[in-house]
Amino acid sequence: MKGGELNTETKKVPTHIGIIMDGNGRWAKGRGQMRTQGHLEGLTTAKKTVKTASDMGISYLTLYVFSTENWKRTADEVSFIMALVKQYLKGELNFFRENRIRIRHAGDASGLPHEIAREIQEVIEDTKAFEGLQVILALNYGGRDEIIRGVRRLLAADAQSDLTEETFRQYLDNPDIPDPDLIIRTAGEMRTSNFLLWEGAYAEYVVSEKLWPDWTEDDFKAAIARFSGRERRYGGTKA
Ligand code: FPP
Repeated sequence: MKGGELNTETKKVPTHIGIIMDGNGRWAKGRGQMRTQGHLEGLTTAKKTVKTASDMGISYLTLYVFSTENWKRTADEVSFIMALVKQYLKGELNFFRENRIRIRHAGDASGLPHEIAREIQEVIEDTKAFEGLQVILALNYGGRDEIIRGVRRLLAADAQSDLTEETFRQYLDNPDIPDPDLIIRTAGEMRTSNFLLWEGAYAEYVVSEKLWPDWTEDDFKAAIARFSGRERRYGGTKA
């Protein structure tokens, strides 16, 4: 499917999709492999999903890569995931250029290994003019942490007197990005896991039993079709 084509095919296309890519560890365990193998396969699924979203003309895709809680994992697993992030950013730069994909970050960059923070910053700079799909890597990201960092910025700006939902939004990580319409979670768990707590207030959730490394382009399109069939009322009543 070519860029933008989806807009003419279905009525309600999500502008912004968030994905909680869960189940890498279970996928590996089920095959008697190391958890890291699951993350490696998970990276392959992430790359394919970015390509699909770009081809479909989706505007924003936020991938939950590493949460503020994921530091509790073993040092080996944490360094493996960080190495994958680096590999992804370095290895996909030509693909980002060819597909006009803009990379962004959500989360606390100051808590990342310096090398990773620098790498992300470089790719953000290199891709900032691209007008295609925007891929937001949620890395060292926590919804509560984002809100707390936002409150700190608000206090530093001494802007409390003018506090509304809209003005507070300016202190979040990416205020210009519209709220996610659809949040997909793989591997069956029914929880938010601290993902886009503020922005996801009215997101539609689609939970799939499939483990992230098994997730396919058809699954992604099926999740979008489920979203398209739902009625969103934002707390109001039927139109
Ligand atoms: C959740 O599965 C997955 C993660 C915490 C890591 C996600 C990382 C990737 C998919 C690879 C990097 C991707 C990019 C785009 C750089 P889990 O380990 O919690 O699985 P489990 O619940 O089955 O143990």
